[in-house]
Amino acid sequence: MRVRGAPAIAIVAALAHAVELQNGAGPSSSAADTISYIDSRLDYLYESRPTAVDLGNAITNLKKVVRGVDVSSLDQDAARSAIVNAYIEAAEEILRKDTETNLKIGSHGAEWLLENAPIKSAEGKVAVLTHCNTGSLATSGHGTALGIVRSLNSQGSLSHAFCTETRPYNQGSRLTAFELSFEKIPSTLITDSMAGALFATRKQSDSIAAVIVGADRVVRNGDTANKIGTYALAVLAQHHGIKFIVAAPTTSIDLHTDSGVGIKIEERKPEELTQISGAVVGVDGKVNASKSVRVATADQTIGVWNPAFDVTPAELIDAVVTERGVVTKGADGRFDFKEIMPERWAEVVGN
Ligand SMILES: *[C@@H]1O[C@H](CO)[C@@H](O)[C@H](O)[C@H]1NC(C)=O
Repeated sequence: MRVRGAPAIAIVAALAHAVELQNGAGPSSSAADTISYIDSRLDYLYESRPTAVDLGNAITNLKKVVRGVDVSSLDQDAARSAIVNAYIEAAEEILRKDTETNLKIGSHGAEWLLENAPIKSAEGKVAVLTHCNTGSLATSGHGTALGIVRSLNSQGSLSHAFCTETRPYNQGSRLTAFELSFEKIPSTLITDSMAGALFATRKQSDSIAAVIVGADRVVRNGDTANKIGTYALAVLAQHHGIKFIVAAPTTSIDLHTDSGVGIKIEERKPEELTQISGAVVGVDGKVNASKSVRVATADQTIGVWNPAFDVTPAELIDAVVTERGVVTKGADGRFDFKEIMPERWAEVVGN
Protein backbone atom coordinates (compact mmCIF):
# COMPACT_ATOMS: atom_id res chain seq x y z
CA MET A 1 0.00 0.00 0.00
CA ARG A 2 3.04 2.28 -0.05
CA VAL A 3 2.51 2.14 -3.78
CA ARG A 4 -1.01 1.89 -5.09
CA GLY A 5 -2.84 2.65 -8.31
CA ALA A 6 -2.51 0.12 -11.13
CA PRO A 7 -0.26 2.24 -13.40
CA ALA A 8 1.94 3.38 -10.51
CA ILE A 9 2.38 -0.21 -9.31
CA ALA A 10 3.71 -1.22 -12.72
CA ILE A 11 5.94 1.86 -13.03
CA VAL A 12 7.46 1.52 -9.57
CA ALA A 13 8.02 -2.23 -9.97
CA ALA A 14 9.72 -1.79 -13.35
CA LEU A 15 11.88 1.12 -12.19
CA ALA A 16 12.76 -0.43 -8.81
CA HIS A 17 14.14 -3.44 -10.60
CA ALA A 18 15.97 -1.14 -13.03
CA VAL A 19 17.70 0.47 -10.04
CA GLU A 20 18.71 -2.96 -8.72
CA LEU A 21 20.17 -3.93 -12.06
CA GLN A 22 21.93 -0.59 -12.45
CA ASN A 23 23.50 -1.18 -9.03
CA GLY A 24 24.89 -4.52 -10.20
CA ALA A 25 22.36 -6.95 -8.74
CA GLY A 26 22.18 -10.42 -10.27
CA PRO A 27 24.67 -12.90 -11.64
CA SER A 28 27.68 -11.68 -13.62
CA SER A 29 27.67 -14.86 -15.68
CA SER A 30 25.97 -15.67 -18.96
CA ALA A 31 23.31 -13.66 -20.79
CA ALA A 32 20.87 -16.53 -20.16
CA ASP A 33 21.54 -16.28 -16.40
CA THR A 34 20.96 -12.52 -16.48
CA ILE A 35 17.64 -13.04 -18.24
CA SER A 36 16.54 -15.75 -15.85
CA TYR A 37 17.51 -13.50 -12.91
CA ILE A 38 15.41 -10.68 -14.36
CA ASP A 39 12.53 -13.13 -14.90
CA SER A 40 12.70 -14.34 -11.30
CA ARG A 41 12.64 -10.78 -9.89
CA LEU A 42 9.75 -9.81 -12.15
CA ASP A 43 7.81 -12.93 -11.17
CA TYR A 44 8.37 -12.05 -7.51
CA LEU A 45 7.04 -8.53 -8.09
CA TYR A 46 4.03 -9.90 -9.96
CA GLU A 47 2.95 -11.87 -6.90
CA SER A 48 2.69 -8.64 -4.87
CA ARG A 49 -0.48 -7.34 -6.56
CA PRO A 50 -2.43 -9.93 -8.53
CA THR A 51 -5.57 -7.89 -9.41
CA ALA A 52 -4.05 -5.01 -11.38
CA VAL A 53 -3.26 -6.03 -14.92
CA ASP A 54 -0.81 -3.22 -15.75
CA LEU A 55 1.93 -4.94 -13.79
CA GLY A 56 1.38 -8.20 -15.67
CA ASN A 57 1.42 -6.40 -19.01
CA ALA A 58 4.59 -4.47 -18.07
CA ILE A 59 6.31 -7.69 -17.02
CA THR A 60 5.37 -9.48 -20.23
CA ASN A 61 6.76 -6.55 -22.20
CA LEU A 62 10.00 -6.33 -20.18
CA LYS A 63 10.60 -10.07 -20.54
CA LYS A 64 10.14 -9.74 -24.28
CA VAL A 65 12.54 -6.78 -24.47
CA VAL A 66 15.41 -8.54 -22.69
CA ARG A 67 14.98 -11.57 -24.94
CA GLY A 68 15.14 -9.35 -28.02
CA VAL A 69 18.69 -8.14 -27.34
CA ASP A 70 21.20 -9.57 -29.81
CA VAL A 71 24.13 -10.74 -27.70
CA SER A 72 25.63 -13.15 -30.23
CA SER A 73 28.76 -11.07 -30.89
CA LEU A 74 29.26 -9.85 -27.31
CA ASP A 75 31.44 -11.15 -24.49
CA GLN A 76 29.84 -11.98 -21.14
CA ASP A 77 30.16 -8.50 -19.55
CA ALA A 78 29.04 -6.66 -22.66
CA ALA A 79 26.08 -9.02 -23.01
CA ARG A 80 24.98 -8.36 -19.44
CA SER A 81 25.29 -4.58 -19.98
CA ALA A 82 23.34 -4.73 -23.21
CA ILE A 83 20.50 -6.67 -21.56
CA VAL A 84 20.47 -4.42 -18.49
CA ASN A 85 20.48 -1.27 -20.62
CA ALA A 86 17.62 -2.57 -22.74
CA TYR A 87 15.69 -3.34 -19.57
CA ILE A 88 16.31 0.14 -18.11
CA GLU A 89 15.28 1.88 -21.32
CA ALA A 90 12.09 -0.15 -21.50
CA ALA A 91 11.28 0.59 -17.84
CA GLU A 92 11.78 4.33 -18.43
CA GLU A 93 9.60 4.12 -21.51
CA ILE A 94 6.75 2.76 -19.36
CA LEU A 95 6.97 5.91 -17.22
CA ARG A 96 7.14 8.29 -20.19
CA LYS A 97 4.27 6.63 -22.00
CA ASP A 98 2.03 6.67 -18.94
CA THR A 99 2.11 10.47 -18.74
CA GLU A 100 1.26 10.76 -22.42
CA THR A 101 -1.55 8.23 -21.98
CA ASN A 102 -3.05 10.11 -19.01
CA LEU A 103 -3.23 13.38 -20.90
CA LYS A 104 -5.00 11.69 -23.80
CA ILE A 105 -7.47 9.93 -21.49
CA GLY A 106 -8.17 13.31 -19.87
CA SER A 107 -9.01 15.04 -23.11
CA HIS A 108 -10.99 12.14 -24.68
CA GLY A 109 -13.01 11.67 -21.49
CA ALA A 110 -13.76 15.37 -21.04
CA GLU A 111 -14.87 15.68 -24.64
CA TRP A 112 -17.10 12.59 -24.47
CA LEU A 113 -18.75 13.67 -21.24
CA LEU A 114 -19.48 17.19 -22.46
CA GLU A 115 -21.21 15.66 -25.50
CA ASN A 116 -23.11 13.02 -23.55
CA ALA A 117 -23.83 14.58 -20.16
CA PRO A 118 -27.44 13.98 -19.09
CA ILE A 119 -27.41 17.29 -17.20
CA LYS A 120 -25.31 20.45 -17.15
CA SER A 121 -25.33 23.69 -15.23
CA ALA A 122 -26.79 26.82 -16.81
CA GLU A 123 -23.21 27.68 -17.91
CA GLY A 124 -22.84 24.28 -19.60
CA LYS A 125 -20.57 22.82 -16.92
CA VAL A 126 -20.73 19.33 -15.45
CA ALA A 127 -20.47 18.00 -11.91
CA VAL A 128 -18.92 14.58 -11.36
CA LEU A 129 -18.23 12.05 -8.65
CA THR A 130 -15.01 10.07 -8.52
CA HIS A 131 -14.10 7.10 -6.35
CA CYS A 132 -10.78 6.06 -4.85
CA ASN A 133 -7.60 7.69 -6.14
CA THR A 134 -6.65 7.71 -9.77
CA GLY A 135 -4.69 10.93 -9.86
CA SER A 136 -1.06 11.87 -9.99
CA LEU A 137 -0.49 9.75 -6.87
CA ALA A 138 -1.72 6.61 -8.68
CA THR A 139 0.01 7.15 -12.00
CA SER A 140 3.05 8.96 -13.37
CA GLY A 141 1.09 12.24 -13.21
CA HIS A 142 -2.25 13.84 -14.23
CA GLY A 143 -4.19 10.63 -13.61
CA THR A 144 -6.82 8.51 -15.35
CA ALA A 145 -10.31 9.17 -13.91
CA LEU A 146 -8.97 12.16 -11.99
CA GLY A 147 -7.17 13.13 -15.20
CA ILE A 148 -10.60 13.60 -16.82
CA VAL A 149 -11.66 15.72 -13.83
CA ARG A 150 -8.46 17.78 -14.19
CA SER A 151 -8.98 18.20 -17.94
CA LEU A 152 -12.62 19.30 -17.43
CA ASN A 153 -11.48 21.79 -14.82
CA SER A 154 -8.66 23.24 -16.88
CA GLN A 155 -11.11 23.76 -19.77
CA GLY A 156 -13.48 25.62 -17.45
CA SER A 157 -16.11 22.86 -17.89
CA LEU A 158 -16.24 21.49 -14.35
CA SER A 159 -18.82 22.88 -11.95
CA HIS A 160 -17.89 20.59 -9.07
CA ALA A 161 -16.06 17.36 -8.24
CA PHE A 162 -17.24 15.11 -5.44
CA CYS A 163 -14.91 12.43 -4.12
CA THR A 164 -15.75 9.47 -1.94
CA GLU A 165 -13.84 8.59 1.18
CA THR A 166 -13.34 5.07 -0.28
CA ARG A 167 -13.52 2.81 2.73
CA PRO A 168 -11.83 0.97 4.18
CA TYR A 169 -8.39 2.31 3.32
CA ASN A 170 -9.64 5.83 2.53
CA GLN A 171 -7.59 6.54 -0.57
CA GLY A 172 -10.32 8.98 -1.59
CA SER A 173 -10.14 11.09 1.55
CA ARG A 174 -6.39 10.67 2.06
CA LEU A 175 -5.24 11.13 -1.52
CA THR A 176 -7.93 12.38 -3.91
CA ALA A 177 -9.17 15.01 -1.46
CA PHE A 178 -5.56 16.16 -1.13
CA GLU A 179 -5.04 16.32 -4.89
CA LEU A 180 -8.30 18.22 -5.45
CA SER A 181 -7.56 20.73 -2.69
CA PHE A 182 -3.95 21.11 -3.81
CA GLU A 183 -5.08 22.00 -7.33
CA LYS A 184 -7.87 24.25 -6.02
CA ILE A 185 -10.50 22.28 -7.96
CA PRO A 186 -14.00 23.03 -6.58
CA SER A 187 -14.64 19.85 -4.64
CA THR A 188 -16.43 18.12 -1.79
CA LEU A 189 -15.72 14.94 0.13
CA ILE A 190 -18.49 12.45 0.98
CA THR A 191 -18.51 9.02 2.59
CA ASP A 192 -19.18 6.08 0.28
CA SER A 193 -22.64 5.65 1.79
CA MET A 194 -23.71 9.20 0.85
CA ALA A 195 -23.58 8.72 -2.92
CA GLY A 196 -27.25 7.68 -3.24
CA ALA A 197 -28.41 10.75 -1.33
CA LEU A 198 -26.12 12.95 -3.43
CA PHE A 199 -27.50 11.55 -6.69
CA ALA A 200 -31.05 12.05 -5.50
CA THR A 201 -30.37 15.75 -4.93
CA ARG A 202 -31.11 17.06 -8.38
CA LYS A 203 -30.33 20.74 -8.11
CA GLN A 204 -29.51 21.98 -11.61
CA SER A 205 -26.45 23.87 -10.34
CA ASP A 206 -24.52 20.86 -9.09
CA SER A 207 -26.39 17.69 -9.99
CA ILE A 208 -24.10 14.87 -10.96
CA ALA A 209 -23.65 14.14 -14.67
CA ALA A 210 -21.23 11.26 -14.32
CA VAL A 211 -19.40 8.91 -12.04
CA ILE A 212 -15.82 8.58 -13.27
CA VAL A 213 -13.67 5.75 -11.95
CA GLY A 214 -10.39 4.12 -12.85
CA ALA A 215 -9.85 0.40 -13.33
CA ASP A 216 -7.53 -2.22 -12.04
CA ARG A 217 -8.59 -4.45 -14.88
CA VAL A 218 -11.09 -4.23 -17.72
CA VAL A 219 -11.72 -7.62 -19.30
CA ARG A 220 -12.73 -8.45 -22.86
CA ASN A 221 -16.50 -7.98 -22.41
CA GLY A 222 -16.01 -4.69 -20.51
CA ASP A 223 -16.56 -6.04 -16.98
CA THR A 224 -14.33 -3.93 -14.77
CA ALA A 225 -12.49 -4.70 -11.55
CA ASN A 226 -11.90 -1.59 -9.50
CA LYS A 227 -11.76 -0.46 -5.89
CA ILE A 228 -14.42 -1.92 -3.66
CA GLY A 229 -17.55 0.24 -3.81
CA THR A 230 -17.35 0.88 -7.56
CA TYR A 231 -20.09 -1.65 -8.31
CA ALA A 232 -22.46 -0.02 -5.81
CA LEU A 233 -21.86 3.38 -7.42
CA ALA A 234 -22.60 1.92 -10.87
CA VAL A 235 -25.91 0.49 -9.71
CA LEU A 236 -26.85 3.84 -8.16
CA ALA A 237 -25.75 5.76 -11.24
CA GLN A 238 -27.93 3.64 -13.49
CA HIS A 239 -30.93 4.15 -11.23
CA HIS A 240 -30.44 7.91 -11.38
CA GLY A 241 -29.67 8.19 -15.11
CA ILE A 242 -26.09 9.26 -14.42
CA LYS A 243 -23.32 8.30 -16.87
CA PHE A 244 -20.83 5.75 -15.60
CA ILE A 245 -17.37 6.17 -17.08
CA VAL A 246 -14.35 3.91 -16.67
CA ALA A 247 -11.03 5.60 -17.43
CA ALA A 248 -8.39 3.02 -18.28
CA PRO A 249 -5.23 2.96 -20.35
CA THR A 250 -5.25 0.10 -22.87
CA THR A 251 -2.58 -1.52 -20.68
CA SER A 252 -5.36 -2.11 -18.12
CA ILE A 253 -7.47 -3.98 -20.67
CA ASP A 254 -7.06 -7.72 -20.32
CA LEU A 255 -8.15 -9.49 -23.50
CA HIS A 256 -7.15 -12.89 -22.10
CA THR A 257 -10.04 -12.88 -19.65
CA ASP A 258 -13.44 -12.95 -21.29
CA SER A 259 -15.63 -11.88 -18.37
CA GLY A 260 -15.43 -10.59 -14.82
CA VAL A 261 -15.99 -14.06 -13.43
CA GLY A 262 -12.33 -14.84 -14.05
CA ILE A 263 -10.89 -11.91 -12.10
CA LYS A 264 -8.97 -12.77 -8.97
CA ILE A 265 -9.93 -10.41 -6.15
CA GLU A 266 -7.35 -9.58 -3.52
CA GLU A 267 -8.61 -9.83 0.06
CA ARG A 268 -6.92 -7.71 2.68
CA LYS A 269 -6.36 -7.95 6.40
CA PRO A 270 -9.21 -7.43 8.90
CA GLU A 271 -7.38 -4.62 10.72
CA GLU A 272 -8.19 -2.27 7.83
CA LEU A 273 -11.80 -2.40 9.04
CA THR A 274 -11.35 -2.86 12.74
CA GLN A 275 -8.65 -0.22 13.24
CA ILE A 276 -7.71 3.08 11.77
CA SER A 277 -4.50 5.03 11.95
CA GLY A 278 -3.73 8.60 11.09
CA ALA A 279 -1.83 11.72 12.02
CA VAL A 280 -2.70 13.51 15.24
CA VAL A 281 -4.72 16.70 15.05
CA GLY A 282 -3.62 19.20 17.68
CA VAL A 283 -5.94 21.37 19.75
CA ASP A 284 -5.12 24.17 17.30
CA GLY A 285 -6.71 22.06 14.51
CA LYS A 286 -3.36 21.52 12.81
CA VAL A 287 -2.27 18.07 11.63
CA ASN A 288 1.01 16.87 13.08
CA ALA A 289 2.32 14.56 10.37
CA SER A 290 5.14 13.23 12.54
CA LYS A 291 2.80 11.90 15.17
CA SER A 292 0.34 9.13 14.28
CA VAL A 293 -2.10 7.09 16.31
CA ARG A 294 -3.92 3.82 15.77
CA VAL A 295 -7.39 3.41 17.20
CA ALA A 296 -10.00 0.66 17.27
CA THR A 297 -13.13 1.28 15.19
CA ALA A 298 -14.75 -2.11 15.84
CA ASP A 299 -14.81 -5.03 18.18
CA GLN A 300 -11.37 -6.58 17.65
CA THR A 301 -12.65 -10.17 17.56
CA ILE A 302 -15.44 -9.79 14.98
CA GLY A 303 -15.04 -11.74 11.75
CA VAL A 304 -14.26 -9.47 8.80
CA TRP A 305 -14.65 -9.74 5.03
CA ASN A 306 -12.38 -7.24 3.32
CA PRO A 307 -12.23 -7.62 -0.47
CA ALA A 308 -10.13 -4.81 -1.95
CA PHE A 309 -11.97 -4.74 -5.28
CA ASP A 310 -15.29 -5.56 -6.86
CA VAL A 311 -16.39 -6.22 -10.40
CA THR A 312 -18.79 -3.89 -12.19
CA PRO A 313 -20.62 -5.66 -15.00
CA ALA A 314 -20.29 -4.12 -18.46
CA GLU A 315 -24.06 -3.55 -18.66
CA LEU A 316 -23.71 -0.80 -16.03
CA ILE A 317 -20.83 0.98 -17.82
CA ASP A 318 -21.52 3.65 -20.46
CA ALA A 319 -18.02 4.36 -21.69
CA VAL A 320 -14.48 3.05 -21.36
CA VAL A 321 -12.10 5.94 -21.96
CA THR A 322 -8.65 4.93 -23.19
CA GLU A 323 -5.71 6.86 -24.64
CA ARG A 324 -6.78 5.58 -28.05
CA GLY A 325 -10.32 6.87 -27.79
CA VAL A 326 -13.63 6.21 -26.08
CA VAL A 327 -15.28 2.80 -26.41
CA THR A 328 -19.05 2.62 -26.00
CA LYS A 329 -21.42 -0.29 -26.48
CA GLY A 330 -22.59 -1.18 -29.95
CA ALA A 331 -26.14 -1.85 -31.11
CA ASP A 332 -25.78 -5.35 -29.62
CA GLY A 333 -25.17 -3.82 -26.18
CA ARG A 334 -21.58 -5.06 -26.05
CA PHE A 335 -18.20 -3.40 -25.84
CA ASP A 336 -15.82 -4.15 -28.65
CA PHE A 337 -12.17 -3.35 -27.98
CA LYS A 338 -10.99 -4.74 -31.30
CA GLU A 339 -11.13 -1.37 -33.01
CA ILE A 340 -8.85 0.48 -30.56
CA MET A 341 -6.36 -2.36 -30.12
CA PRO A 342 -6.39 -4.45 -33.31
CA GLU A 343 -2.86 -5.87 -32.88
CA ARG A 344 -3.42 -7.14 -29.32
CA TRP A 345 -6.84 -8.42 -30.31
CA ALA A 346 -5.39 -10.41 -33.22
CA GLU A 347 -2.62 -11.75 -30.99
CA VAL A 348 -4.85 -12.79 -28.09
CA VAL A 349 -8.34 -13.39 -29.45
CA GLY A 350 -7.69 -14.07 -33.11
CA ASN A 351 -10.27 -12.87 -35.59
C1 LIG B 1 4.49 16.76 16.54
O1 LIG B 1 4.75 15.50 17.12
C2 LIG B 1 6.11 15.30 17.45
C3 LIG B 1 6.31 13.85 17.85
O2 LIG B 1 5.46 13.49 18.94
C4 LIG B 1 6.49 16.32 18.55
O3 LIG B 1 7.84 16.16 18.89
C5 LIG B 1 6.24 17.73 18.02
O4 LIG B 1 6.46 18.67 19.05
C6 LIG B 1 4.81 17.88 17.53
N1 LIG B 1 4.68 19.18 16.87
C7 LIG B 1 3.72 20.03 17.16
C8 LIG B 1 3.68 21.30 16.36
O5 LIG B 1 2.89 19.83 18.03
